[in-house]
Amino acid sequence: MTTKCRLRILVLVCSTRPGALGPAVGAWLARTLSPSADTLDADLVPLALGDLHLPFLDEEEEPASGVHHHEHTRRWSRIVDEADGFVFVTPEYNYGMPATLKNALDYLGREWAWKPVGFVSYGHTSAGTRAVQHAKQVVTTLRLVPLGSTVALRIADATREGRFAPAPRHAEAAEGLLDELVRVSRALAPLRERGHAGAEAGPLPGSYTRRLGPDDAPEVTVLQRCCWMEEALANDTLAIPALHESLEEVRSWLADWHTTGLWRDGRLLGMVRTRRVGADLHVGRLAVAPDLRGLGVGRWLLRRAEADGEGCRRVVLSTGAASHRNLTLYRKQGYVALPDAPEDGVVDLAKAVPCPAGG
Ligand SMILES: Cc1cc2nc3c(=O)[nH]c(=O)nc-3n(C[C@H](O)[C@H](O)[C@H](O)COP(=O)(O)O)c2cc1C
Repeated sequence: MTTKCRLRILVLVCSTRPGALGPAVGAWLARTLSPSADTLDADLVPLALGDLHLPFLDEEEEPASGVHHHEHTRRWSRIVDEADGFVFVTPEYNYGMPATLKNALDYLGREWAWKPVGFVSYGHTSAGTRAVQHAKQVVTTLRLVPLGSTVALRIADATREGRFAPAPRHAEAAEGLLDELVRVSRALAPLRERGHAGAEAGPLPGSYTRRLGPDDAPEVTVLQRCCWMEEALANDTLAIPALHESLEEVRSWLADWHTTGLWRDGRLLGMVRTRRVGADLHVGRLAVAPDLRGLGVGRWLLRRAEADGEGCRRVVLSTGAASHRNLTLYRKQGYVALPDAPEDGVVDLAKAVPCPAGG
């Protein structure tokens, strides 16, 4: 799993009765917002709640368990899981949200978490705003984050001769809603990622690790340039690949190496990469952001990398001959310098991989 650049926004039309106004509102919204969505790097995915054919909640387990027995729930779970944010196009029924929306919300748990939701409501005098207030108190329980921006359509103001005909100010409000939705969705991305399966707790409070992929190249490029600058100064050379690699080169090695990133609140704090070559595990690009040195993060990442060496004979790595800080760390962790240094100014080190207990 990597951070997505393009956002997927589900536009959910909540009314399900025949002849409902909802589909016309949803179609207008999608038409109006498509060009800006594209500019904002977001895809709008329209969906009519009625097309899901969700019965009244019929799952035995609580939604928070994540155990979904029925195919209709699994399908709904996948749709919500893949989304980065929502627009609920909702009528007001008896001063509240439609039961269909409440039912659809109740079906799932963590799939909703840390995603923004904007409301496009419609109704008579109140323009559906009471339905929105009702829904807001429910969605926050699911860790959905409701937006301040809304589009509230008074039916009398948004229809002409029985046809849906919203005013330019409604389109403006919709643009504002999308803009806020996209910004909040991107800001919440670290929280979504942390809760995602595959992310594991890291050594610092609030930090977590996950495998890095090509989409992480911008953060990796910044981190390695910043970290290897010190190496350049210590070794009095600029001939260090980590300082020169282009974004494309970084993307390319991220696809080939197994790279672990340590994150907190959307910031890449550290990384390490590994690759098996014959009976050796090659470890490289061990980096820790300069403000977090001395906290054991490098040692933690190194151990984490070594864990990839199961079945290998030894772990090998290299560093600058004058990189005393790195050399101290590696020696303390049991690495010894190899006699035949292939390049001037570089020290190769190796450590035997311990046999598994009982092996
Ligand atoms: C069951 C029901 C309850 C309604 N309650 C309200 C209400 O509380 N406030 C309101 O402004 N309009 C209310 N209306 C009128 C709706 O706003 C109007 O019929 C609207 O078109 C409903 O959306 P839909 O056509 O997408 O179902 C209600 C309509 C229905 C069918």
